[in-house]
Amino acid sequence: MKIAVGISGASGAIYGIRLLEALKRQGVETHLVISAWGEYTIREETEWPLERVKALASHCHDPADMAAPISSGSYPLDAMVVCPCSMKTLAGIASGYSEDLIMRAADVCLKERRALILCTRETPLSRIHIENMLRATDAGAIIMPPMPAFYTKPASVDEIVEQSVNRLLDRLGLPADGLKRWKTEQERQPPR
Ligand SMILES: Cc1cc2nc3c(=O)[nH]c(=O)nc-3n(C[C@H](O)[C@H](O)[C@H](O)COP(=O)(O)O)c2cc1C
Repeated sequence: MKIAVGISGASGAIYGIRLLEALKRQGVETHLVISAWGEYTIREETEWPLERVKALASHCHDPADMAAPISSGSYPLDAMVVCPCSMKTLAGIASGYSEDLIMRAADVCLKERRALILCTRETPLSRIHIENMLRATDAGAIIMPPMPAFYTKPASVDEIVEQSVNRLLDRLGLPADGLKRWKTEQERQPPR
């Protein structure tokens, strides 16, 4: 399986890093693109040296390199996840304005009808953000903002991130063994 991972300059770089780690563990071929502001948020929000993040991927492409393989529909990519996805990158994808390789590879996924998951991060949302999410959804993207699931009773930030990454793996059809699923009726406690 070949998956492209875009890390743009929205808060939550750790989600993209943990996703790369999980994909590496599963032997998935990954194509990583980190935007300039994605690099900034990795430095600002995590303890991860940039080179170690890049080393998690099978291939790392310069965001300005429109000649990278994932820039072409002829390259047999299975899916792409933009995690986290800034409102700027969302706007580029929703309007088909492929200013960098993250937006171009996402545009290619849409035109080739391949899975594209956008882990959008912003709050509050303007009408423009909401309209862009609707446009991207209508074009076939999955809008999947990482939302903490409190029914799992997370004890740490790591557990919150892990649950969201497992939801992503599940959505990609990959094993997500650590995913805490909503309990069945039999397992659930009756309401107090
Ligand atoms: C520390 C930090 C956190 C940011 N968080 C967000 C965010 O959560 N969502 C967002 O849309 N933009 C956020 N931004 C702004 C984006 O980085 C900015 O719009 C940038 O131009 C996005 O470019 P890119 O999409 O090419 O990475 C943040 C910027 C910084 C410096």
